[in-house]
Parts: sequence; structure tokens; C-alpha cells
Amino acid sequence: MTSSSKGVDLRDRVAAFPFRVFDLARRYRRRCFPTRLDKFQTIHGWTLESQLRYLMSIVRVLPDRSTTVEVGVWQGRSALAMGEACRGTRKLVYAIDPWQEYVQGGVAISSRLKEWGVSSFEDIYQAFLRNRQAFNLEPWVIPIRARSLEAAAAWAHGSPAFVFIDGHHDYDMVTADLTVWYDLMPSGGIIAGDDWNWESVRSAVEDFVARQPTLSLSLPCENTWQLDKR
Ligand SMILES: C[S@@+](CC[C@H](N)C(=O)[O-])C[C@H]1O[C@@H](n2cnc3c(N)ncnc32)[C@H](O)[C@@H]1O
Repeated sequence: MTSSSKGVDLRDRVAAFPFRVFDLARRYRRRCFPTRLDKFQTIHGWTLESQLRYLMSIVRVLPDRSTTVEVGVWQGRSALAMGEACRGTRKLVYAIDPWQEYVQGGVAISSRLKEWGVSSFEDIYQAFLRNRQAFNLEPWVIPIRARSLEAAAAWAHGSPAFVFIDGHHDYDMVTADLTVWYDLMPSGGIIAGDDWNWESVRSAVEDFVARQPTLSLSLPCENTWQLDKR
């Protein structure tokens, strides 16, 4: 390494120093004084902190007695964060997931359970129930153990004001979810979802929007898409 590249290295480190201090302070605060949001992130799952904030901010401003639906629950990270935003109100979150084997992108998901630290779909469901109990969210988060399309076909819980889609990520399945839940929503409803960075998800959403000229698409936070039904 030349002396000038050493100088650049040192300058980079000095410039990065305040960020490292800030990061350390944040980690210390999280460990010693965890907020509820921090605690939701200890639940195994994929939704990011910015997404949990976004979901909670949407549900918080929905009118009382309104219904939120989550498609794809896993152990409850995002469903319970939305449930937290209902606490003390008459709003409800319906958490829809079959907690059963499925094949996505040609891969049987059971073949990946070990890497996520679980041994069966029943285990995942039981972890969801334990998490819901640990957060005292039973009154606000109601599981429906069914595939999204079956749950939509039998839907009798009022028009959902907000639907968050994070279930099966294949193109046809995202399209089918969008179609059935969009039909069940009132105008003014919001349908959003995770994994904008998945090609299958992004093209299903874009193609759906292209067929529904009254829908507007936005990207409200990291990796998240949102459609507003007019
Ligand atoms: C990516 S995980 C959901 C992650 C969760 N939202 C979080 O906060 O981390 C996808 C979930 O979708 C569920 N799923 C798969 N096919 C489904 C379907 N047809 N209807 C509803 N859920 C489905 C799976 O069982 C799995 O729990």
C-alpha cells in the first residue's frame, strides 16, 4: 500500500467514525431499552424495520372497526406489528396462512425449513401462536389457517381497508391474490406487499396495474409496493 492510499484509508475511517459511534449507541439502546418495534424484529421473518414502521403507520390511521388482512404470516413478525397498531381499538388483523407445504419457484419450501431453524409447518404455526400470546395480541390478530384464495372465497369479515400481501411469490399466485383481494376491497382501500425486488412479484404487480387504470402504484418504503384503489 502506498503512503497516499494509507492517507485515504485513514481519512475514510475518520469520516466513518461518527456513524460507527451512532450505530453502537443505537445497538446499546436496543439491547438495554428495546421498544416494541425492536421486539417484533426478534421474531423470525423477513420484513424490515422500515416496513414494520410503514405497516404500523398505515393501520394506526385506519378508522376504528376496520379490517386489515395479511396474506403470508410465517411466525407473525409483520402481522403482530400491525396488530400492535390495533391495540385498544376495535380494529382487527386477519392473519391468513395455510402453514402448510408449498412449492415456490419450483422449490418445495419444506426443503429449506432447516436453514430457518424450524422442522415443520406445524412448528411455524405454533411459533406464531406463542408470539401472539407473548405480545398479548390475541384480541387483535386472528389467524385463518387457509390458502389466500380459499380464505378470500369464503370471506365474511367485512371489506378489508388494508391488505398486505406477502404469501406465495410466484407470478400467477401474486396475480391471483391481487385479483381476489382487490375485488373485496372498498374504494379508498390500500393493497400493498413485500418483495418488490422479486422479478415475479414486480411483474405481477406492474401487469395488474396496467389492466386497472384507476389504480396508482407507489413504492412507499424499502422493497414495498402499494396500490391505492380509487
Ligand atoms: C415470506 S413468508 C411471510 C413473512 C412474514 N410476512 C414476515 O413478516 O416475515 C411467506 C408465507 O406465505 C405463506 N403462504 C404460502 N402460500 C400461501 C398462500 N397461498 N396463501 C397464504 N399464505 C401463503 C407461507 O406459508 C409463509 O408463511
